[in-house]
Amino acid sequence: MSASAVRIRGLTKTFGTGDSAVHALRGVDLDALYGQATYLVGPSGCGKTTLISIIAGLLHRDGGELEVLGTDHATFRAGQLTRWRSENVGFIFQAFNLIPQLTVAENVAVPLVIRGESRRRAVAKAEELLEKVGLGGRAKAKPTKLSGGQQQRVAIARSLVHDPRILVCDEPTSALDAQTGRRVMDLITAVAHGPDRAVIVVTHDDRIFHLADRVVHMNDGTVTKVEVKG
Ligand SMILES: Nc1ncnc2c1ncn2[C@@H]1O[C@H](COP(=O)(O)OP(=O)(O)OP(=O)(O)O)[C@@H](O)[C@H]1O
Ligand SMILES: [Mg+2]
Repeated sequence: MSASAVRIRGLTKTFGTGDSAVHALRGVDLDALYGQATYLVGPSGCGKTTLISIIAGLLHRDGGELEVLGTDHATFRAGQLTRWRSENVGFIFQAFNLIPQLTVAENVAVPLVIRGESRRRAVAKAEELLEKVGLGGRAKAKPTKLSGGQQQRVAIARSLVHDPRILVCDEPTSALDAQTGRRVMDLITAVAHGPDRAVIVVTHDDRIFHLADRVVHMNDGTVTKVEVKG
């Protein structure tokens, strides 16, 4: 097995066509190694969310090479990508994307239910994780009743509940105070350092940079610098 959980070469993505075309990714090279937290930083609009959405299999690339956990999404037949994602990927969205009709615990349980676990076991596991992010008391609430920071922690619990091999986080601490931010980053960093696991964190939060094993700087759709820590 290669040491790279994610290996990307010359990745391109354009939204729209003609005069309105936006070249979001203009030939990105990136490696995210097993056992590491790779941080992705750069100004608003430089392509961070686009890049991690492609890695997670939520968006198709236009060109370039991509290998995630040893496979290229393009080799999957219909339906296989969704299955692969539900088995391997945790995603914390920039906008938390919680389902308003479900309770907090049911939201967190979604990845397990998709994977075929019984609702009762899934919710029990969800409640365990909610405890870890400091929301044990809010399991039965609807997400709209929670503060922004609490909703963010629900999204974080949901991304971790199925023990994903690759965890992709878009600004995971943007709505959190220092202490809560540290607590969730401990959980996220523990995933990064687990066997056969890798984490990619998009962030502007300089309070958490010291947790990175590798910092990838982006600007205007390309990688401009890679810092290897430690
Ligand atoms: N679905 C879309 N349709 C059209 N343009 C898009 C779409 N998604 C992203 N873009 C454009 O692609 C570029 C990169 O966007 P992206 O969301 O990846 O940036 P980002 O680095 O995540 O920014 P931020 O830090 O503000 O979240 C931007 O110019 C954005 O307007
Ligand atoms: Mg973004």
